[in-house]
Amino acid sequence: MTQPIRSFVRRSGRITKAQQHALDTLWSIYGVDTDQMLDLDTLFGRKAEKHFEIGFGRGDTLVTMAKTHPEHDYFGIDVHRPGIGHLLMEIKAAQLTNVRVLCADAVDVLQYHLPPQSLDTVYLFFPDPWPKKRHHKRRLVQSDFVQLLAGRIKSGGCLHLATDWQNYAEHILQVLEAAPEFVNCVTGGGFSPRPSTRPLTKFEQRGLRLGHDVWDLLYLRQ
Ligand SMILES: C[S@@+](CC[C@H](N)C(=O)[O-])C[C@H]1O[C@@H](n2cnc3c(N)ncnc32)[C@H](O)[C@@H]1O
Repeated sequence: MTQPIRSFVRRSGRITKAQQHALDTLWSIYGVDTDQMLDLDTLFGRKAEKHFEIGFGRGDTLVTMAKTHPEHDYFGIDVHRPGIGHLLMEIKAAQLTNVRVLCADAVDVLQYHLPPQSLDTVYLFFPDPWPKKRHHKRRLVQSDFVQLLAGRIKSGGCLHLATDWQNYAEHILQVLEAAPEFVNCVTGGGFSPRPSTRPLTKFEQRGLRLGHDVWDLLYLRQ
């Protein structure tokens, strides 16, 4: 059987003692195992808007958004264990009850574990740019992925992406403009000014220090 093309490489990366301890002790509280279809209201124990961040890195953005909007539920997914450990510590420190964490490939979870029309907002901030042309097929945002998102985001829901890689930004714009389920929130189309609701991510701060521009894309699920 051929292996699916993944948008990430599992880095063994150094994990601190504190991050490992958080994984060992906090996963059972905030972690979500992806062995079956998820019932999001049951997971959070209430009915509230469900916001999903794909590839949260260290999770600082997710925590900031969850603190700002305690009336919404937030869950994020990544595969990088040190970052997941970091996020678990931050959730505990802030005593947040509206955040859950997944450790899996977002493509699999969208496909097999999230019910249709179950998400109010999906965030994808600074996805791995895979800059070399021969690696472009590993980029997360492709038309199949956008179709998957269209099936999981509610009508009237929102898709917010940002990247500091111009060539990827143009690719994302092209893919989304070709998707009839999504309509650009910017009158006349194109990139969006950075919404004040998007916290600066760690990855973005590094890019800004290096002089990178940032492109935001905001779409409404029709
Ligand atoms: C460039 S980092 C950006 C992290 C964060 N959003 C930020 O802006 O600081 C991209 C992240 O996406 C994660 N990622 C890539 N593909 C993924 C996938 N298919 N499922 C879950 N996480 C993924 C990587 O592990 C990595 O942590």
